[in-house]
Amino acid sequence: MKVLNFGSLNYDHVYQMDHFVAPKETQSSLGYARGFGGKGLNQSIALAKAGVEVYHAGKVGADGQDFIDYLRKYGVRTDYLKKADDEATGHAIIQVCKGENCIILYGGSNQSITPQEIDDVLCHFERGDVLLIQNEISSMAYLIEKAHGKGMKIAFNVAPANEKIWGYPLELIDTFIVNEVEGAFLAGGDASDISGVKKALQEKYPQKEIVLTLGGDGSSYLHGAEEISQPAYPTDVVDTTAAGDTFTGYYLAMILQGRGVKEALDIASRAASYTCQGAGAAQSIPSLSDLHL
Ligand code: RIB
Repeated sequence: MKVLNFGSLNYDHVYQMDHFVAPKETQSSLGYARGFGGKGLNQSIALAKAGVEVYHAGKVGADGQDFIDYLRKYGVRTDYLKKADDEATGHAIIQVCKGENCIILYGGSNQSITPQEIDDVLCHFERGDVLLIQNEISSMAYLIEKAHGKGMKIAFNVAPANEKIWGYPLELIDTFIVNEVEGAFLAGGDASDISGVKKALQEKYPQKEIVLTLGGDGSSYLHGAEEISQPAYPTDVVDTTAAGDTFTGYYLAMILQGRGVKEALDIASRAASYTCQGAGAAQSIPSLSDLHL
């Protein structure tokens, strides 16, 4: 069984802010750093650091050799990662203020992935292999249809949640991984009413496995009427960027390694908490040994 993460890669430009910039305001940042990110890349790093061999497919621009080197450094397979000559790698402008963030995305090469490029990757995978996706690349509907047609199991981290997802064949997804805002978008309801969001998810997707992350309020696994809950591990938060990606990668890694749902939620929660203790995205993701299990 092989694991494929077909997802985004971004240069993250991270600005430390006193407060988030408001309309008509110009504000100096308190600090700046550039790092590797993209929900796709972060989740591949988390999977690899949790001990799973993962193939990362996607597209960087001519300026993107650094990403290939970075992924390889952590043992991520880059056999199917494409480099385009005529466009720039995606990037994100991230404001960080009191641990919270605001993100502006520029898709770049993440948004020029074609059906043909998807076919070129999927021909290396087969029934029973696992596909992890997020919502930061192009040709998503095609990717889901083709992977399902091959008999791959599909986990979809619905992030960012936007109108595009209504054009995807969501009925072909096996596992949804969402936070409360994404869950409310996916199923309806008010993100501040957690029990309402859970009920809506259970009613709208009774056959699907759903992993719901709730920040400081922990996480839940929903499958039909079944619910397994996990408290969060409180920590001093420096930057929450990539905490959700860490959770997704670790949860999936633990399930793929044969752990039960409860244990997978527990370890993923520890890993996400660790990520919150550092600034930046991929660079903050822990190795299994960092968690002292
Ligand atoms: O989830 C965090 C990530 O979202 C950042 O690394 C940024 O690149 C965006 O994709």
